[in-house]
Amino acid sequence: MYLRSVEWRRDHIRIVDQTELPHRLVYRDLETLEDVAEAIVNMRVRGAPLIGVVAALGLALEAIKSGQEGDGLIRVLEKAYNVLASTRPTAVNLFNAMDMVMERARADPSVNTVVEAAVQIMEMEVENNRRIASLGAELIPDGATVLTHCNTGSLAAVEIGTALGVIIEAYKKGRISKVFITETRPKLQGARLTAYELLYAGIKPVLIVDSAAPFLISRGDVDVVIVGADRILSDGTTFNKIGTYSLALASHLSDTRFYVAAPTTTFDLESDRDDVKIEVRSGDEIINCGGCRIAPEGVDTLNLAFDATPPEFIDGIITEKGVLKPPFSSSIPSILESNV
Ligand code: MRU
Repeated sequence: MYLRSVEWRRDHIRIVDQTELPHRLVYRDLETLEDVAEAIVNMRVRGAPLIGVVAALGLALEAIKSGQEGDGLIRVLEKAYNVLASTRPTAVNLFNAMDMVMERARADPSVNTVVEAAVQIMEMEVENNRRIASLGAELIPDGATVLTHCNTGSLAAVEIGTALGVIIEAYKKGRISKVFITETRPKLQGARLTAYELLYAGIKPVLIVDSAAPFLISRGDVDVVIVGADRILSDGTTFNKIGTYSLALASHLSDTRFYVAAPTTTFDLESDRDDVKIEVRSGDEIINCGGCRIAPEGVDTLNLAFDATPPEFIDGIITEKGVLKPPFSSSIPSILESNV
């Protein structure tokens, strides 16, 4: 039913190399910090929770390689932290997961503690996803047509996934009649990865071009839109794959339910909207498609990887601790502070 996108193998991290999908399921071993950074930058691993987990495991790898304990270990980890922090800027999970490891390491600077913390983060994500899937499935009305964007399944989150986990769980319960997936230009996470994962789970999706989605929503062809998140601020503002904003806007204008599914490791209560760095990726990703150049020489590009959806357009945020309802500026702090 579910793939597993990452495994800890003590002296290396085994990942599914997502750049090879959907044509080949290739596992790749990351043996050094440089391997880990390269895999994140080039999106061999991607998706906010998975980026966080792989970065945390990257710190564990570096701790083992160094063989240091005490202050020496902290210095090694700080250096590795800075390398990994410069890979992709928008998904806050990258920083949150590494901060969790650093906190444990500072309290007990030993290799074992670092490894244990990183592996716990990985397993915690799976448990969180299981809970999100089951809570979220309850929100899907019987016979619903759902639409999702980008890839939010096992390939984005160790196993099960967030928004896609909800969809698969609701489908298993017989609640979903159709799943629309956007291709998600320019990296095609929807066409390549979400399509692959849904077929793997025995669900046949309907693939559409990104620009068709708001029109389908406006026509009433979609009952529920459900997406993941890369960073959610304290007022509910949600940073997610570019194109999410247009789905939320269309849903808002046509009274279609719009949900975000994300673990609490995706929350950032410190930043304001203007503080968040939106990743701008190479224009080559837009100029070329499937290894073919599609734009003439001489064009300029702006390849924004994420956008921000305002809280007014969001009907609920599904977390492992419960489903948050507006106003988010009160529901978010109260759920994050609770020990559920
Ligand atoms: O650029 P990507 O593929 O890393 O972006 C992924 C997304 O935007 C996902 O929707 C988000 O990380 C949530 S994954 C559970």
